[in-house]
Amino acid sequence: MPELQKTELNIPKLGVGTFRLQDDEAYNSVAMALDVGFFHVDTAQIYGNEAAVGRALKDSGLARENLFITTKVWNENLNKAKFVESVRESLRKLQLDYVDLLLIHWPSPENGETMQEYLTELKRVKEMGLTKHIGVSNFTVAQIKQAVDILGEGVIANNQVEVHPYLTNEKVRQACKKHNIKVTGYMPFAVGKVLTDETIVAIAKKHGVSAAEVVIAWELAHDLVTIPSSTKRKNLETNLKALELTLDAEDLAQIDGLDCGDRQANPDFSPAWD
Ligand SMILES: NC(=O)c1ccc[n+]([C@@H]2O[C@H](COP(=O)([O-])OP(=O)(O)OC[C@H]3O[C@@H](n4cnc5c(N)ncnc54)[C@H](OP(=O)(O)O)[C@@H]3O)[C@@H](O)[C@H]2O)c1
Repeated sequence: MPELQKTELNIPKLGVGTFRLQDDEAYNSVAMALDVGFFHVDTAQIYGNEAAVGRALKDSGLARENLFITTKVWNENLNKAKFVESVRESLRKLQLDYVDLLLIHWPSPENGETMQEYLTELKRVKEMGLTKHIGVSNFTVAQIKQAVDILGEGVIANNQVEVHPYLTNEKVRQACKKHNIKVTGYMPFAVGKVLTDETIVAIAKKHGVSAAEVVIAWELAHDLVTIPSSTKRKNLETNLKALELTLDAEDLAQIDGLDCGDRQANPDFSPAWD
């Protein structure tokens, strides 16, 4: 498999996101991403684009073992009655026999089901071979501990949470490290906001690269997986080039210092953030 700096869990460190992208836009974004050299695609049941993503995966002609595909189970499916069937439905849309990583999208079941119930289903889906790895998303420090208490150490491979220079999410990252849970930083650009930050722009100028590359390199330097999205081939190419950029300690410290708790994803069913 081409080198995209894989982690020990076999997750390529850099992938593409697909939130908000629908129909042709989702198809084209994923098709271009695979064409320029990405292998890791992040989707979710609630994004409504699994079928478009699946078509792009199929049309790419890439071998299944060279792809890394993540999807996420939505809140209304976090119960024994719906969980497994919802994953089968995701796989039908994605035209896959298995995903590489299946996440609980939010720790917020719609009918008050317990974490014990939905994590048991998550583990079952892995045992059924419908996913290679299992993980969570938007889990707080307390919820990570609760989840590890339920499933045991070494079972939860990933926690996908918002991480960018304006929200470094340090406490969650530390808690995950303690339990050997890889963190994926979502919305790395804070949906574009951090790309005009004057500190980041100055660091980009110093290295002769774009602000997007600096932000991705900062995420990777912190041992995060990250999944920026783009609808443009040029931006996808730029984002991939970030793998070649190494920031120095001063750059990293300056970017770390930008944290101001500016959270982008904060729906009313969010947990009590750390
Ligand atoms: N687990 C969760 O609850 C959760 C929540 C939110 C997001 N996510 C995941 O994280 C992914 C990333 O988050 P996001 O898509 O919301 O935001 P993002 O990746 O932080 O930012 C995307 C924006 O950045 C722009 N962009 C991308 N590359 C660029 C470049 N090289 N130069 C300039 N602009 C660039 C894109 O515009 P163009 O299209 O014009 O390039 C787009 O407007 C999502 O797609 C989703 O897969 C997960």
